[in-house]
Amino acid sequence: MRVAMIGTGYVGLVSGACFADFGHVVTCIDKAVDKIDALNRGEIPIYEPGLQQLVAKNVEEERLFFTTDPAKAVREADAVFIAVGTPARRGDGHADLSYVYQAAEEIAHLINGFTVVVTKSTVPVGTGDEVEAIINRTNPSADIAVVSNPEFLREGAAINDFKRPDRVVVGTEDERAVKVMRELYRPLYLNETPILVTKRRTSELIKYAANAFLAVKITFINEIADLCEKVGANVQEVSRGIGLDNRIGGKFLHAGPGYGGSCFPKDTLALSKIGTDAGSELKIVNSVIEVNAGRKKRMAEKVISFLGGDVTGKTIALLGLAFKPNTDDMREAPSIDIVSRLQEAGAKIRAFDPASMGEAGHIMADVLFCDGPYHAIENADALVIVTEWDQFRALDLERVKSLLKQPNVVDLRNIYETEDMLQRGFRYTSIGRAY
Ligand code: UDX
Repeated sequence: MRVAMIGTGYVGLVSGACFADFGHVVTCIDKAVDKIDALNRGEIPIYEPGLQQLVAKNVEEERLFFTTDPAKAVREADAVFIAVGTPARRGDGHADLSYVYQAAEEIAHLINGFTVVVTKSTVPVGTGDEVEAIINRTNPSADIAVVSNPEFLREGAAINDFKRPDRVVVGTEDERAVKVMRELYRPLYLNETPILVTKRRTSELIKYAANAFLAVKITFINEIADLCEKVGANVQEVSRGIGLDNRIGGKFLHAGPGYGGSCFPKDTLALSKIGTDAGSELKIVNSVIEVNAGRKKRMAEKVISFLGGDVTGKTIALLGLAFKPNTDDMREAPSIDIVSRLQEAGAKIRAFDPASMGEAGHIMADVLFCDGPYHAIENADALVIVTEWDQFRALDLERVKSLLKQPNVVDLRNIYETEDMLQRGFRYTSIGRAY
């Protein structure tokens, strides 16, 4: 199969590289000349384990190409994927679809023979109808089927998630399109991955519903964590205790400082707007949005109160800034709220993150970015674990204690054991663990 992938962001680049690795011929197209030039030099604009090698391999084997010019690739394509950004629109939180519609308009007159146009970007219900209308209006003779095929990959685990998904969702009623989509995902089909074919609007909603449900799960366990602290219970044991019930499932029950990233905050907000517009208010989703935003702000207060209520002139070392490990992504990261509130309260911040300090430098002012975890901790009044990178789990805790001015540790990701930390002589607090 021949694939044209419009947009070389996270989803576009990973999907493009993985489809090429499945054996298809993929051309990734982006307007940003710098980005395409860099990709053609073998430079990957995002931090994603394994992606560089996967891209290099498929470029070398001549199945993966990068260009700014959509003409040739779209004309030859069996499937054109639209994987451009759908950021939250400033002001109202609706998904901004201008890039999606622009892409539809641009490809319309290039369509040649039956072509499947696939929206992979996360888009509100009804977007596929609009994409179809735009293409039909721009080029009435185009023979197309517009399909919704949401992507569920996670940053940091993107390649594995793409190649070994729990399911593939294909939203279309066009049988020819179903055939093309099955062929594209053939290697998964052989692995017995369920391919769920639905109507297009249902498929569009599945993506939002999935992300919102996961956000609900996280927010729920975060509230239970707060309760655990009050009543003398342990949230990790509660998670395990409820997660072993197959109806609940153990994943996405790690309590922490609140969810961030490029998807959950944006998609919960967009789903809430879709509900309001449709006259079907989503009260649970609305409270999740509110509770999570409040939680991220509250995390700094947890640090301040642990340090006796006043952090004026104190130095606080943060380990981990990205919204989660194995990414350099700072979007909606809890660290942003934590740093600004601690600074407001008069604290000096030292920080280390293995990947995101470049990004963080654009967002945070007056933070001393350090060369490594031990450098960050040096002479600090407290260490705060914000993101659970594996390397922080393996720190030499005796060295940590000797470097800190005061042995205070606030562990917002529960990466250490309470008893062990207390035995080692730390003052230690974590999330939802009264013991
Ligand atoms: C998410 C979805 O998982 C993915 O299916 C979708 O395609 C895009 O959005 P991503 O944002 O990359 O992926 O990361 P994910 O691993 O889901 O984590 C999101 C946030 O939730 C992070 O801030 C993470 O720290 C937090 N989280 C996750 C928790 O606090 N607890 C958990 O148990 C799981």
